[in-house]
Amino acid sequence: IPLRGYITFKDVNFGYDEGKRVLKNINLYAKPGQKIAFVGSTGAGKTTVTNLINRFYEINDGTILFDGIDIRRINKHDLRSTMSIVLQDVHLFEGTIKDNIRYGRLDATDEEIIEAAKLANAHYFIKNLPNGYDTMLTADGMNLSQGERQLLSIARAAVADPTILILDEATSSVDTRTEKLIVEGMDKLMEGRTTFVIAHRLSTVRDSDAIMVLEHGEIIERGDHEELMNLKGRYYELNTG
Ligand code: GTP
Ligand code: MG
Repeated sequence: IPLRGYITFKDVNFGYDEGKRVLKNINLYAKPGQKIAFVGSTGAGKTTVTNLINRFYEINDGTILFDGIDIRRINKHDLRSTMSIVLQDVHLFEGTIKDNIRYGRLDATDEEIIEAAKLANAHYFIKNLPNGYDTMLTADGMNLSQGERQLLSIARAAVADPTILILDEATSSVDTRTEKLIVEGMDKLMEGRTTFVIAHRLSTVRDSDAIMVLEHGEIIERGDHEELMNLKGRYYELNTG
């Protein structure tokens, strides 16, 4: 059965080490196509939430449901194949650009790869490289700029066609023109997928269906941008401070 992308957290508690709870009583509900954002100070637990959805770590108590199914009952490989993590520390390997976009989707055709690169706004820089899609990358993709690596990350996710997208925004800055390309590519990629956004730029979260403000592992405020601004609490402070 194809997964649709409903994610529910029910009273989730989690700690990496015994005795120290990093997430406390997290409750949330995401529907297919919705964009849920997490904001909050460094160390608040934003990345940890996404580690749990992927089952990189197992929760201590509570439940996480994927389309109503406890994720502990879903095979880890199957679960992860429905999810893509974009932007943060994109892992590139020594090989062509084409192979780096194809990644786990070994059956992806050249046409699918080019289509994904176009959606991601990566096609333009790729076709201007001397060897285009056949350009060899070094292990870290160090022969590409930070922004170009992020565009490849979006292209790779587009080929993977995941049900769930996790956008962990890189802290490093890119130029305004590239930033615009990234934002456009991400917007197209998010369409119809459940997206969890960890954003450092508050402009990225503004149009989210729900914004969760995390502090010390707890959701202290939730709502859309307007609701949270009217609340004049922590989110308001982050936007105006
Ligand atoms: P930023 O990415 O800096 O904005 O923070 P974040 O909100 O993503 O915080 P994160 O979820 O990474 O960390 C929450 C807490 O868990 C912090 O106190 C971290 O020190 C701790 N933590 C994160 N990853 C690990 C880990 O792999 N092992 C252990 N023991 N602690 C971790
Ligand atoms: Mg983080």
